[in-house]
Amino acid sequence: MPIVTKAREVVIGALIAAAAGSIMYACATTKTTDLASGDAASKVYVAPGSYDQYYAFLSGGYNGQIGVYGLPSGRLLKFVSVFSQNPETGWGYNEESKPMLQTTYGTIPWDDTHHPELSQTDGVPDGRWLFINGNNTPRVARVDLTTFETTEILQIPNSAGGHASPFTTPSTKYIVSATRFSVPVPNTDVAIESYKKNFRGTLSFITADQPGKMDIAFQILLPGFNYDLGHAGKGPSDGWFFFTSYNSEQANEKLELNASQNDKDFIAAVNYRQAESCLAQGKARQVASEYFHNVMDEKSHQARAERKTSVRVLDPAACPGMVYYMPTPKSPHGVDIDPTGEYIVAGGKLATVIPVHSFSRLQKAIADKQFDGDVEGIPVVKYAATIAGEVQKPGLGPLHTEFDGKGNAYTSMFISSEIVKWKLGTWEVLDRMPVYYSVGHLMIPGGDSKKPWGQYVLSLNKITKDRYLPTGPELSQSAQLIDISGDKMRMLLDFPTIGEPHYAQALPAALIRDRQVKFYKLSENTNANVVKAESDGGITRTGKRVDIKMAAIRSHFAPDNIEGVQLGDTVYFHVTNIEQDWDIVHGFAVLGAENAELIMAPGATRTLKWLPKSPGIYPFYCTDFCSALHQEMQGYVRVSPAGSAVPLMANTSKKAMAQISGANADGRRSHDDHARPGGE
Ligand code: CUA
Repeated sequence: MPIVTKAREVVIGALIAAAAGSIMYACATTKTTDLASGDAASKVYVAPGSYDQYYAFLSGGYNGQIGVYGLPSGRLLKFVSVFSQNPETGWGYNEESKPMLQTTYGTIPWDDTHHPELSQTDGVPDGRWLFINGNNTPRVARVDLTTFETTEILQIPNSAGGHASPFTTPSTKYIVSATRFSVPVPNTDVAIESYKKNFRGTLSFITADQPGKMDIAFQILLPGFNYDLGHAGKGPSDGWFFFTSYNSEQANEKLELNASQNDKDFIAAVNYRQAESCLAQGKARQVASEYFHNVMDEKSHQARAERKTSVRVLDPAACPGMVYYMPTPKSPHGVDIDPTGEYIVAGGKLATVIPVHSFSRLQKAIADKQFDGDVEGIPVVKYAATIAGEVQKPGLGPLHTEFDGKGNAYTSMFISSEIVKWKLGTWEVLDRMPVYYSVGHLMIPGGDSKKPWGQYVLSLNKITKDRYLPTGPELSQSAQLIDISGDKMRMLLDFPTIGEPHYAQALPAALIRDRQVKFYKLSENTNANVVKAESDGGITRTGKRVDIKMAAIRSHFAPDNIEGVQLGDTVYFHVTNIEQDWDIVHGFAVLGAENAELIMAPGATRTLKWLPKSPGIYPFYCTDFCSALHQEMQGYVRVSPAGSAVPLMANTSKKAMAQISGANADGRRSHDDHARPGGE
């Protein structure tokens, strides 16, 4: 790869962008020399009916969701709705899931997901949950890996950008979220130029090992830098957490230039056991802070949103020994801990080396008080005292490092568009693989854990250009699978991804494949509007609210003819899929509905809110192809003028009507056998 020799001077964004552009096209002209060849195809070929070896979870970036892919094939298996409404599944549109998107800013129908994080037990991914962050309106979400559904979302207060998130401690006691943008805490109306005086950074430690009970355990208040990424220690460094920061200049304008002045910024080394000890000693302040905690109940399939009102905040001054700053060149981005827990690798995105700190040297430096002063009372540990080594001439724009568990590290180089393999301890570069183009994160299954499955590295590229058939101005983004089982990396596969595949995690399929929920047990469905048999369906009116309970089963809805709805009513269709069979999903859509369809997994209830706009007949139908008679799975709802005498009626056959009448004994008005359609 062409290395720009004056890289040390390349410090401002405009130059970086220019460098990226020229190198990108340099790569394009030489790419055929690195194309996969020989038996690469057979290494990624998963025969029809066979399974992939790994589940890979790729963030959707600005689509706010998660894509689940099989590796090595790169096949898309599932799209998990998290922070963004999804009309494909009704997520965020149906009444049951709407509370999941509740925040103190109201309902937020979108976010920007960046870092999927698998839960761990003793430092190894365990397949219980997947966490992911929302960058824009800081939140973290839990996805249950038995259902691949989002079950919990926690908003992060006193934070204005949840980028360094949701990295886990080795047994998932905590996940974290650090603010990318510092803001006044509490947020208030101040002059922006008072940044240095008024703006603060926060690190949030979130309890994560109890499903349904995520909460802010505590926050640490720090100087107003930009906190970027983080990783927990493990093994000897268990109990510590490391966060990169940039903008130690505390600039508030033209950061591209003004936040790149200092030769070194900082990694914040946080002793969270010390933080726990200070909490236990009552050294935290209780600070009024509003945020939401939203949970999807697994039995009722109904989410609830709870407003919380305060958090515990720790000031470093009140808890000596909790935070140290490790100087690190130069606006560091990634901070990655090797499987042994000894090495702390920084991605100095504007640096010409990859600096590697030593945890044991950090401990000794702290014991010996080898400090270079302090920042707002936080001791700054001497760079020379903690550094274990520097990888020289690694490439340009080192961002992120993952590990293969065999003593090697792999670092993504954004500007020189390559993945560089180097050796822990000797810091020598062993191999390079060009990638197309401008790699951000890279991912080895378990590659940030104690036990990497070091067979593949996935390159998550920002720019696609000429890799696929062109599709107009916007191209799907690209992931590339590289075999790292031998001494030399081997390119195997390109595959397009949905949204921006910002970061990914993966684990062997065997860890979760056999634990999948195949359907929800209807007998355990506690939704307030469930129907457990076709005969339980019906219609009730409460003032101007009309509730219609329906069963969906191959290949009809019960009831399927509905009358008595009037203009001005708010109608709720509560549809339960009463099938008890794997993969038999039904949908529900009604003409003119302003939200989206419902998709009901077997055994689940979903509710669609509908405000009819004019009198008439409105068909509804099943949207998910479920049987040979899917096209017959339909019905009609009649809407009459306000004040109409058309009685409530659900279903066409007298037998069914009788059953519905019995089921609706508590309804204000029930249908009347003698007032059949026509009599208005
Ligand atoms: Cu039910 Cu198609």
